[in-house]
Amino acid sequence: MDVRGIETPLLAWSGDCLVIGLFENGVELTGDLAELDQKLAGTLTELIAEAEFKGKEGSSAVARVGSGSSIRKVAVVGLGQANALSLDTLRRAVAVAVRLAKKERCKTLGLSLPVYQDAAATAQTLTEGIELTLHQDTRFKSDNEDKGSKLEQIDLLGVGDQTEAITRARQICLGVILARELVSAPANIVTPLTMADTAEAIAREYGLELEILEKEDCEKRGMGAFLGVAQASDLPPKFIHLTYKPAGTARKKVAIIGKGLTFDSGGLNIKGAGSGIEMMKTDMGGAAATLGAAKAIGLLKPDVEVHFISAVTENMISGRAMHPGDILTASNGKTIEVNNTDAEGRLTLADALVFTEQLGVDAIVDLATLTGACVVALGDDIAGLWTADDNLANQITAAAAAAGEKIWRMPMEDKYFEGLKSVVADMKNTGPRAGGAITAALFLKQFVKETPWAHLDIAGPVWTDKENGYNNPGGTGYPVRTLVNWVLS
Ligand code: BES
Ligand code: MN
Ligand code: ZN
Repeated sequence: MDVRGIETPLLAWSGDCLVIGLFENGVELTGDLAELDQKLAGTLTELIAEAEFKGKEGSSAVARVGSGSSIRKVAVVGLGQANALSLDTLRRAVAVAVRLAKKERCKTLGLSLPVYQDAAATAQTLTEGIELTLHQDTRFKSDNEDKGSKLEQIDLLGVGDQTEAITRARQICLGVILARELVSAPANIVTPLTMADTAEAIAREYGLELEILEKEDCEKRGMGAFLGVAQASDLPPKFIHLTYKPAGTARKKVAIIGKGLTFDSGGLNIKGAGSGIEMMKTDMGGAAATLGAAKAIGLLKPDVEVHFISAVTENMISGRAMHPGDILTASNGKTIEVNNTDAEGRLTLADALVFTEQLGVDAIVDLATLTGACVVALGDDIAGLWTADDNLANQITAAAAAAGEKIWRMPMEDKYFEGLKSVVADMKNTGPRAGGAITAALFLKQFVKETPWAHLDIAGPVWTDKENGYNNPGGTGYPVRTLVNWVLS
């Protein structure tokens, strides 16, 4: 499937299906649209009236065009209110158009949508929407022959030649798709070993540096918190550190850390029935996004040094498992009473944060499917953002907005650290139920000294059960696009 930007106006395009974006309260046809309607013998007017099309976001209608015309079908998609137009409106509108074109078995699709910001940003965004909608993961279906899309050519009308923007979008989407596929694959396929293999493939293909700390290396560094979580698994833990270095001097130096639990059973505080234990293959969503971002950055080659880090393991049970109440010592010397073995992500992140700060980067962002409490607070679509640094908060919020990945800043309420006070150690790993996503963030904060740092709890948005805009059921690849925007900013 090929995407290209062309200058061709609406009236001159020929192909299987022409899709026109219309705003709410903007469905009366004027100018070019009136001319097109005339050329199509009133088909557009009829379609809008018959379908009672009002331009609402997510709505669409399609009609056949009489023979003798240079287009076979014409469709309208709703864009919502004109003053609420954003890059993500375009991404979601194009998803509606692509799904419609697939259903109508079109080979060629012409898209006439408004330009937002500029033609390049619009072309990039539309291409992202197209690629992400068309990506369907059938790796684990026995009958996975592609009977779906017949789409061969998609033309973005009126944006001119946008080869660069389209290439950029495709590179970013390769990162998003890698993250989606890592999250969707089950824990018997994606293991600490295969995560390390994936990092190795990225390093090889895009020229990144790779350092893998084996269990013994982690022991030497005193990573007792990470190793405590890993100790019951039959699979060896892998501490992954990928580095992208630009050809010239780096404008800034940043690090991205992802929680990498390829499966979270809960440990001896085992997850019970109804806990969603069967979804805990997604508990490496942070690491998946980290590797996805590494792939995209390796392709985009910005003038920024980026470190990609993940302490990857499973949280399992066996005779070697941590006992609830065990005391671990992290690599910064702090002691932790593990009052709940299911609060394991923060233990792995503790040692990853200490390791990362020693790299001397300008800023650190971590991504973690850390708490069910964050999902209770913000639902399935929105990630929580914690940082004491307003500047970093603004950077990430802007990057997420442009990406169309929803995020909400949450309070770093230091007083709640009281909930993590331990009788025997420096801290417990688990606080009370109330404010559980906040105490998780405060726990992580104990392992960062002075580097600007932000924590993203992505437990909700890494996965979707339903079709949702340009996301298909499965891993979403959240928040690879935000990370890429942030690195480039
Ligand atoms: N991986 C889970 C968090 C999670 C829950 C992610 C639901 C996605 C969906 C995490 O390791 C966990 O088990 N957290 C516990 C913390 C509790 C023991 C303090 C939780 O949220 O229940
Ligand atoms: Mn857990
Ligand atoms: Zn977990």
